[in-house]
Amino acid sequence: MRVILSAAVSLDGCLDDCSPDRLVLSSAEDWQEVYRLRASCDAILIGAGTLRADNPSLVLKDEESRRQRIAAGRSADPIKVVVSGSGKLDPSARFFRTGDCEKIVVTEARDLDPELEEQATVLRLEKITAVGILSQLALRGIETLLVEGGSQILTLFLGEGAFDRFRLAIAPFFVDDECAPRLKGVSGTPLLRLERVERLGETAVSHYRGESGIPTDVGYLVRAIALSRCCTPSTSAFSVGAVILTRDGRLFEGFTHETGARNHAEEEAIAKALAAGADLRGATIYSSLEPCSRRASKPLSCTEHIINYGFARVVFACREPGCFVDCEGAEKLIAAGVEVREIAALADEVKRINAHLAFDK
Ligand SMILES: NC(=O)c1ccc[n+]([C@@H]2O[C@H](COP(=O)([O-])OP(=O)(O)OC[C@H]3O[C@@H](n4cnc5c(N)ncnc54)[C@H](OP(=O)(O)O)[C@@H]3O)[C@@H](O)[C@H]2O)c1
Repeated sequence: MRVILSAAVSLDGCLDDCSPDRLVLSSAEDWQEVYRLRASCDAILIGAGTLRADNPSLVLKDEESRRQRIAAGRSADPIKVVVSGSGKLDPSARFFRTGDCEKIVVTEARDLDPELEEQATVLRLEKITAVGILSQLALRGIETLLVEGGSQILTLFLGEGAFDRFRLAIAPFFVDDECAPRLKGVSGTPLLRLERVERLGETAVSHYRGESGIPTDVGYLVRAIALSRCCTPSTSAFSVGAVILTRDGRLFEGFTHETGARNHAEEEAIAKALAAGADLRGATIYSSLEPCSRRASKPLSCTEHIINYGFARVVFACREPGCFVDCEGAEKLIAAGVEVREIAALADEVKRINAHLAFDK
C-alpha cells in the first residue's frame, strides 16, 4: 500500500484562516499537481472537520483523467473516505452527493443517520487510529491513498508514521491568526526525510519521505491474509497465509497445507524461495498469524526456520492463541535479534478466517 499526505500551509503553518470561506493557499500550478495526484490515487481521505468546514466535492475536474481511470478499470472519481469519530455528518454534503465513486465513512459511532448508511459504506473501528484506517482500506483493495487533511487527520497520520510521502505546499504569506487550524506534529513523530523541493508558481513544495514502512507492511500483510483464505479449514490447523519479500524485491507466497499436509504457510513460502535460489538473509516475512515456536509434527518450528535463514523482519497480525500449544514466537524472534511488527488492527480479520477454531482460548 502507498500513502501520500498532502497539505498546504501559510508561512506561519496555518492550514486555513478563521473566516467562513476556505483560504486559498496553493497557486494555480500547485493545484494542477494536486489534481494530477488525486487522479492517480485509488482513494482520497479527509477528516470530518474538513467536510464540515469546506464541504468539498473531491471529484476530478478533468474529463480526460476520468476517462483514463475508467479505461484502467477504476471508478471515474477516486473513492472518497471521511473519518468521523462521532459519525455526525450531513448526508446532503457534496462529499456524499457528487462523484462516480464509492463513499466510505470510517467511524467509532454505532448509530448513524440511516440516510448516511444509504449514501456510504460504513467501516466501524473500536478506536480510530491511522493504522486501523489503513488496514480497513487495504482489506477493501485500496492500494494508493491520498490523505488531504485537515489538521487533526494530518497529526494522526504523521504521529503514527502511517505514510510514505508527505507533500507540503507553502504559500508566500502569513495568516497571523491564533485560532486558525495549523499543521501540528506530536512529540515522537518519526523522522521525515526531505527528498526534493520545487517551485510551482509562487508556492514552494517540499516532498518528504516517511521511513516507518507501515503502509508497505499493511499492504503485504493484507496479501498474506488474502492467501490464508485459500486454506481448507481444518480443526487441527490454523488457516494462515505468508508472503516473503527479499532484500532485492522478490516475492514468494504460501498458505497452510498448500503442497503438504503438515506444512505451515511460512514453510510453503520459504520452500518456494529456496527452490528459486533466493537469498533470504535480511528478508521480511509477512504471516497472518504469529510464527509457531513449538510443534509436534516436525523437528523445527517456523520461528527457528526464520532465525536460521537470517530473516531480518517478521510482520504478523494476530498472536497465536493457545488452541494447540503455548506460542512464544514473537518473544523468541525478538530475543534472536529479528525485528517484529504486530499489526493488531488486522487481527479480527484473521480470527474471522479461523472461525472454525476456538480462537480466543
Ligand atoms: N490547507 C490544507 O491543505 C487543508 C486541507 C484540508 C483541510 N484544511 C482545513 O483544516 C480545517 C479542518 O481541520 P480539523 O482539524 O478541524 O478537522 P479534520 O482533521 O479534517 O477532521 C477532524 C475530525 O476527524 C475525526 N477524527 C480525527 N482524528 C480522530 C481520532 N483519532 N479519533 C476519532 N475521530 C477523529 C473527528 O471527527 P468527529 O468530529 O466527527 O468526531 C474530528 O473532529 C479546515 O479549516 C480546513 O479548511 C486545510
